[in-house]
Amino acid sequence: MARILKAQDKGALSQAVTLLKQGDVVAFPTETVYGLGASVFNAKAVARIFEVKQRPSFDPLIVHIAHISDLAKLTTSVDERIHRLAECFWPGPLTLVLPKHPRVPDIVTAGLDTVAVRIPAHPDARALIEALGEPIAAPSANPFSYVSPTQAQHVQEQLGNAIELILDGGASQVGLESTILSLVEESSVILRPGFVTAEDLRSVLGDVPLRRISTDKPSAPGQLSKHYATQTPLVLWRPNEALPKDLSDQAYLGFQGPIPSGNWAHSVLLSAEGNFPEAAAALFAVLRALDGQGFKQIIAECMPEKGLGIAIMDRLQRCAVNKI
Ligand code: TXA
Ligand code: MG
Repeated sequence: MARILKAQDKGALSQAVTLLKQGDVVAFPTETVYGLGASVFNAKAVARIFEVKQRPSFDPLIVHIAHISDLAKLTTSVDERIHRLAECFWPGPLTLVLPKHPRVPDIVTAGLDTVAVRIPAHPDARALIEALGEPIAAPSANPFSYVSPTQAQHVQEQLGNAIELILDGGASQVGLESTILSLVEESSVILRPGFVTAEDLRSVLGDVPLRRISTDKPSAPGQLSKHYATQTPLVLWRPNEALPKDLSDQAYLGFQGPIPSGNWAHSVLLSAEGNFPEAAAALFAVLRALDGQGFKQIIAECMPEKGLGIAIMDRLQRCAVNKI
């Protein structure tokens, strides 16, 4: 089992830094999901991330920095869009894909000539990066293609045998992985929807067109449509669609309610108030709690696809066995 230390506790960060400097990996909190970090310029340590997660090496990682000045270590061009976006959304759940500096090891970017970077909002994440003095490459701290962890305990349950230390910074407040925006070309492209919505980005980038990439036709490695999946099959359900007659072995995952009547084995709502941020923050913990309880199926209600609902539906779609 890994040791779980409260990130705020005395000595916790320095133990994490010692491990990172030795070329080891450490799990740490961010406001989106927990990350599994390694020092970015240590290719061997980064290789360990792929080993622990059993992640294919064609899936590039996100690099976490504490200050915008750290961008110079990672990218060759800091175009003016970055400053406008950083002012509004950094620190925060927005990842920018930029031209890669040659010193960033290829294993970080899966051989691409671009690098994905963000400044996390979680103060413990930034404190760790500052204490290390180097950017931290980190994917979500879950086994490849499982649901991302939003609590230290989630990491312990799945990766606890493979890593030494998990820094605990409480439950991730956003609960969905960051929005990924590519700035490699003149027109910006959203590669993954997240808490920072297309409308938010448009309000800063003005006329710059934003295209939503289809997850079924990945233009970048890692944008696979089957991702974040629970072991219990999850099916998407639109209100008013017919439901199976016997629901006694089915779990219902709804947004706001009301819960459709029936003899559900279990039912849960993500936000009785119909509040998107609350639903996003709860989603992965609820999926984990429903998974592995022996339900035949999880029937998940479709969310309205506007604003943050787009990102939540994206994760449900990737989890679902029936894409709709
Ligand atoms: O919120 C987050 O982004 C979390 C926390 C830990 O920061 N991290 C995260 O990492 O979700 P991960 O590995 O689960 O997802 C990273 C995704 C990859 O699937 C990959 O497609 C994309 O980022 N990515 C990374 N580098 C890229 C690049 N150069 N070009 C396009 N996509 C890239
Ligand atoms: Mg992930």
